[in-house]
Amino acid sequence: MNAMPRKRVAALISGRGSNMLSLMAAARQPDYPAEIALVLSNKVDAPGLATAREAGIATAALSHKDHPTREDFERAMQAILDEHKIDLICLAGFMRLLTPWFVEQWQGRMLNIHPALLPSFRGLHTHERALEDGVKIHGATVHFVVPEMDAGPIVAQAAVPVVDGDTPATLGARVLAQEHVIYPLALKLVASGATRIDGNRVITGEQASDHVLVAPTPV
Ligand code: GRF
Repeated sequence: MNAMPRKRVAALISGRGSNMLSLMAAARQPDYPAEIALVLSNKVDAPGLATAREAGIATAALSHKDHPTREDFERAMQAILDEHKIDLICLAGFMRLLTPWFVEQWQGRMLNIHPALLPSFRGLHTHERALEDGVKIHGATVHFVVPEMDAGPIVAQAAVPVVDGDTPATLGARVLAQEHVIYPLALKLVASGATRIDGNRVITGEQASDHVLVAPTPV
């Protein structure tokens, strides 16, 4: 029997692309159910584009500034995604709000990573806000994208402790290390067909420990 074809994934980025790299590294494993077939950026000078090119991955840069409306930009993006026969999208630091039109095209087939334990700290500056609010546990979330920003069924989460003396930078680095673990894990679950969306919940049929990570307190 033939193995299931690997899902063709587009990583959408706007910046350094460290999450994109973690997905690329995972996809190098022969039994991983997805390949990173395209890296698309809305910033022509995103450092992640050069990294992807060096790794031999197809890239596209499409400045939203060249398109009069948000939807024009997205239609151009959609044409590129079609051309590359993309099955799944992973938003990986893509700093552009998407219209309901685009999100609906990709319903159940588009993931995002957010640097907080959703539904806490939607939006920007999550590490600063977590420190301001004095939470003791912070983290990251991979979720399906819905029209509302930083909402949608959660596939995987990682929790990290907040420790005395943390700054947004030290806390952010602790969270980022876990992002690099849970994004490949979540994509694996989705690409292999292991996930089912039930309302706001993602049913994985896996052990909780496979998609919920708690990082140890740093020493
Ligand atoms: C990450 O913190 C991610 O959670 C957020 O944007 C940042 C992107 O970082 N959505 P990178 O470009 O993947 O390094």
